[in-house]
Amino acid sequence: MTLAMNFGRAINISLDNISFEIIYDGEPHQITTRNNEYVNLMMLIYDRFADEEFGDCRGMGKCGTCMVEILNAREKLASFDRNEATTLAKMDVNQQNIRLSCQLMIDKNLNGLQIRVL
Ligand code: FES
Repeated sequence: MTLAMNFGRAINISLDNISFEIIYDGEPHQITTRNNEYVNLMMLIYDRFADEEFGDCRGMGKCGTCMVEILNAREKLASFDRNEATTLAKMDVNQQNIRLSCQLMIDKNLNGLQIRVL
């Protein structure tokens, strides 16, 4: 862990790798990233797989186009909790392992997960 200064505030930056699998278009891809390399999981998927229709509202939690299924979820993932429950309910999704990737932070809790882009 590294301590850095940002506008006079001390912040913790972890340089530890975070590794997980993204299943995109049926193909598994091993991903390695770091805390804060991307704002959220949606931005990572959008950047690495260049799908223009993915993440239409750019992380507002309203469009539902960034849905992913966590295939081996162990615990509740850290979330931004903006509009996610409302958007999933509007789409008749009530499975705990289906999430909006824009609401999931890139952190160590993603390590070892298999995440299928829906
Ligand atoms: S990007 Fe629109 S809900 Fe996630």
